[in-house]
Amino acid sequence: MIKVKLIALTAMSFFFLMKKLLLSLLNDKSEMLKIKNLKKSFTNSKKEKFSIINIHEFSVNDCDQLAVSGESGSGKSTFLNLISGILRPDEGEILFGDTDIAKLPESRRDLFRARNIGYIFQTFNLLQAFTSLENVMLGMMFTGRTDKLRCIEALDKVGLSDRLNSKPSELSVGEQQRVAIARAIVNSPALLLADEPTANLDKKNSGIVIDLIKNLCHENKIILLLVSHEKEVVEEFKLQRYFSDINKSEVLQSN
Ligand SMILES: Nc1ncnc2c1ncn2[C@@H]1O[C@H](COP(=O)(O)OP(=O)(O)O)[C@@H](O)[C@H]1O
Ligand SMILES: [Mg+2]
Repeated sequence: MIKVKLIALTAMSFFFLMKKLLLSLLNDKSEMLKIKNLKKSFTNSKKEKFSIINIHEFSVNDCDQLAVSGESGSGKSTFLNLISGILRPDEGEILFGDTDIAKLPESRRDLFRARNIGYIFQTFNLLQAFTSLENVMLGMMFTGRTDKLRCIEALDKVGLSDRLNSKPSELSVGEQQRVAIARAIVNSPALLLADEPTANLDKKNSGIVIDLIKNLCHENKIILLLVSHEKEVVEEFKLQRYFSDINKSEVLQSN
């Protein structure tokens, strides 16, 4: 009898241990982006140095969709420009897995960005002389690949398959931002940065663009990091943070 009880007890403990292990594996989201002790200063027109970014620690996990809210001038665009390697920090680490983008030489940094990071800007940043398709193809060019079919697919995903040959001036602002979204996702990035992506859109288009960005990131397993000063935009996300909780720099001087 004692032997039977012992076997049952061992089997039960084994079962609970396995369950715990499985649950921990399922819940273990690895940190895709990790920032440590990041600092950046600028110089104003009077040649005085001022600190704009001072982040002790910040991370984003795989599959996260994080929206960060903050006032204009608080350093949100600078923050995204540092993450994408467009700007170099004064100090600190910006780790994608084992790769510190801040430490890569310029040519490798550009290639790393092209392959791994998509960027959506407030002002779309489309080239006016080029069609929607050409704008998306230009976004792919920096990776050293060209795949027209993939660019057409990306424009189809944002609902613009009938506007492939339209130039930005022939598109509505909402459509222009959708071209910019297609350009940002065409290289299947691991991370999508969105800097005030709805600031130039009306309420209806703003809703369409946010839904589109969220769905595309979800379907394509892209991590999303969005910054905005608009409360209504940030409230569309489950994961929200205040930039002032992340960035401890006190902007004493601006412009
Ligand atoms: N290259 C630069 N040189 C000097 N000051 C800058 C530079 N880029 C941004 N700034 C200043 O840094 C502050 C933060 O800018 P920014 O990151 O654009 O804030 P946000 O995106 O939150 O509005 C602003 O006061 C801006 O004028
Ligand atoms: Mg900004």
